[in-house]
Order: sequence, then structure tokens, then C-alpha cells
Amino acid sequence: MKACPSLDARARVLALAVVALAAALPAGAVVDRDCALPEADCTLAETAARAGVFAGAAVDPPERSPYTAFAVPEHFNSVTAENAMKWGVLAQRVGSYDFSEADALVDFAEENGARIRGHTLVWGRGPLPSDLGVLVDAAADPAARLRQILTDHIARVVGHYAGRVESWDVVNEPLDVFTDRFDQNLFLRTLGPDYIAESFRAAHAADPAARLFLNEFFPDFGGAKAARFVALVRELLAAGVPLHGVGIQTHAFLRPPPYPAFPGFLAELAALGVDVELTELDVLIVWFQAADDPEAAQADAFAGLTGACLALPACTGITTWGVTDADTWLDTTAPFAIVAPNRPLLFDESLAPKPAYFAVREVFASRAVPFSVQAARLLADFDAAVEAGSLGSARFPAPAGLQGLRAVLAEGEQLLAKARYGAACRVLGTAGRLLDGEARPPDLVSGPARPELARSLAELRRQLDCDG
Ligand code: G3I
Repeated sequence: MKACPSLDARARVLALAVVALAAALPAGAVVDRDCALPEADCTLAETAARAGVFAGAAVDPPERSPYTAFAVPEHFNSVTAENAMKWGVLAQRVGSYDFSEADALVDFAEENGARIRGHTLVWGRGPLPSDLGVLVDAAADPAARLRQILTDHIARVVGHYAGRVESWDVVNEPLDVFTDRFDQNLFLRTLGPDYIAESFRAAHAADPAARLFLNEFFPDFGGAKAARFVALVRELLAAGVPLHGVGIQTHAFLRPPPYPAFPGFLAELAALGVDVELTELDVLIVWFQAADDPEAAQADAFAGLTGACLALPACTGITTWGVTDADTWLDTTAPFAIVAPNRPLLFDESLAPKPAYFAVREVFASRAVPFSVQAARLLADFDAAVEAGSLGSARFPAPAGLQGLRAVLAEGEQLLAKARYGAACRVLGTAGRLLDGEARPPDLVSGPARPELARSLAELRRQLDCDG
């Protein structure tokens, strides 16, 4: 998974500022220099970056919504296009694309170091070009015509953003809203269920590096629809379809959280080997109206849902569907508009973070591992590998031949504990070259444990933004 270098850099600047402040504090004052805990005043984005996952929000381009620039980069390190990339928004008629708004959002996200989730290439119930149905109906071979239009669309859009949009919701809501049937949309009626696999293949061809997701809403997580979704993912993977992740929408509007089946459902999907993200999280306040403190109860619900995902190594992040209670889709969409304000998000109407913001941040913090702890783990793994004989030196007898490398790693850990990130990067760079086999002599470090240690070290350097 890609990190967010500029946010890592920001976290580092913040940490350095805290260290500078510490020098002025009386001896004994406790300062968290690694910026990994909520008490350290890290934002949600900084905490997520430290945890190596994404905290995202669905937003419209900054020219359309003032909440976008408020949210990113300070609070979120990922953005989803709430509307700008939908087929019928990009192209009011088949083939007549206007990328200007979506481009503005992508430019904005890049300028602010945020990861971009593309949403969505194929959505049978969503906005489509107004002439799509007519063109297909009028064709001599409707299936061939629709297949051509569909694959042209995917090639055009994914190609337009190749290398910039990190992940795509390739197909959104392939299943019926409440049942385990396929959604009976134009694509299914004309092409059959194969339109799903074909869409993924077309997206992969247009950008082989993009992470490709199947995104879905669930009325509950233990019912027939959830089971059908797991089966569908399994079938697609078995057929060799380039499917890399599942987006679990998590609009909590049908029944109040917690959902007992939720953790098991996510774990079942993760066990299939795909990334798991909560892609459209919002929790209506109405569920907690009777609670002593409705916002605190809402915060618990957010923490429970977020925690169920982040407990899994396969979980790559969460995204709230909107930024503030002032701009939620629920307040303008029937039937939820009747009970507006639904107040389902992390910020209130005056842009103040709600208890839910802090609760979600705490969940991210519990997954975050301070840099110095990561370095200490690396050193322990190194020692264990030498002890087990799985790391050695072709030139010198272990462990003597590895003492220099061990000393370098230990120095890196010490520097990170002191928040001396620049110096740590330099030292860890030397260690990295030794482990990568790039140093002279090239066979100085060998053994089956070497590649894994090299990977861990590279990941630590990536999080530190050493090459940025
Ligand atoms: O674009 C016009 C705009 O020009 C006009 O001024 C305005 C006046 O009403 O309408 C605008 O279009 C609306 C658009 O949102 C932008 O606000 C559409 O009528 C409205 O239907 C559209 O709703 C979006 C909906 O998807 C349908 O595309 C919601 O904002 C968006 O939050 C919602 O998101 C979906 C996900 O994509 C998939 N999962 C469910 C989720 C919630 O329904």
C-alpha cells in the first residue's frame, strides 16, 4: 500500500516541533515525540499515516465544496470523489467527456499528498449518460454495443488517471439493495453477470498498477446478501479476475450499530486475500437519541466499526461519506431527509470535531507503531535470524561478520528514539544497502532471512519519507 509522504513529512515536522518544545519543558515532563497517540495532538490524518493506513473522506472538488480544503490535508490522507467521477457526471452523453471537475479534485488531492480513490466506473443504479439505454436498445447487437461502450469508458477514464488514482471502485453495488440477487440493471440484463469480470479486466488493462475494488452496500452483515457477496468475490478470484480489494460501504442507516456479524464478515473477506476498506462510513445520530449523551454513543459506534476493520492486517483504511454534518447526502435524500439533520459524520455543522472524530483517531492510534518501536522490532528480528543461523555472511563467520550491520541498526533505533529522523534515515540507508546486497562486497550479508529484513527496513524508511 502506498503511503502519504507529505503527511509523513508533516508528522515529522510536528514531532520535531514537539522535541524542540520538550527542550524548554521542566525535566520530567512527558512528551510523546513519535506523534502516535491522541494525546500528542496528532490529527486523524497524521495518526492514520503513522499506522500505515488511510483515513479518507468522500468530497466534491474544492471549487464546489468549502469542506474539501478544510478536510484535506489536515484531517484526511485519502479522498474519494463523492460524485465527480461517476459515469453520468463525467459524460452526460456517451463518449462526451468533461474531466474538468474530476481533474480539479485529483490535482487538489495530489497537491495535498492525499491518496485518491476513484468512485466509480460502473454503477447500474447510478448516474449514467442519458443516451446509453437508447443507444444499446437501437443496436443490432445490443450486447456487443454495450460491451464496446463499457470497455471504452473504462479504458478512457482509468487511462486518463493512470498512475494518479491509486484505487478504483470498479463496480459499485452489483447486488440488489436488500437481497442476494444481482442488481437487475442495464449491464446485467444485457451482458449477464460477466459484465463484472469484464469491467475489472478492462480497468486492469488501462492501469495495471491501480488497486481494483468491488464496492457494496449491506443491509446487515450476517444475512444472505453478505454471504452472496463473499461467494461472488471468491468466484471472481478463482476465475483469475484482477480484483484486489472489497469496499464495504457501512452506511449505518437501516439499524443501529453495533453489528455482531460485522467483524466476522470482514475477516471472511480478508481471508480470501483481498484488501478490505470501509468506503462509505456514516452513522445517523437518530439511533442514539435516547442515550444520555447521543454524541458519545455515536462515537462508540464509529469506534466499533472502525476497530473491526483496523484489527485486520488486510484493512487498508476507512472513508467517511462526507466531511461535516452540514454536507451529508442523507439530509437531501429521501427518506432520510425527513428526519434531517441526520448528523452522521465526524465534524459538526460549525466544523468542530465531534466525539466520533476523537474516537476514530484513537482506534487509528492503537494500530500505529512509533518509528523507534519499529526499529527495535527490526533489530530483534535481526538478532533472532543471526541466532537461528538464517542470516550470515559469506565472507566472515557469523555473527562477527554482521556486527557492523547490527551496530548500524542499533544506532538507527537510538536516533529514532531521540526523534532525529534525518540522521536516522542516513544510518538506515547504509543498513539498507548492506541488506539489499548493494554494498561492497556484495555478498557481505546472506541467508534466507535477508530479503524479509530488507523489506521491513525499506518499509520503515518509506514511512520516514527518507527519500522524499
Ligand atoms: O449535479 C447537480 C447539481 O448541478 C445541482 O445543482 C444539484 C441540485 O440538486 O443536483 C446535483 O446533482 C446531485 C448530486 O448528488 C450532487 O449533489 C444529484 O441530484 C444527486 O442525485 C446526487 O446524489 C449522490 C448520489 O450518490 C447519486 O449519485 C450523492 O451526492 C452521493 O452522496 C451518493 O453517493 C452514493 C455512492 O456513490 C454509492 N453508495 C451510496 C451513496 C449514497 O447514496
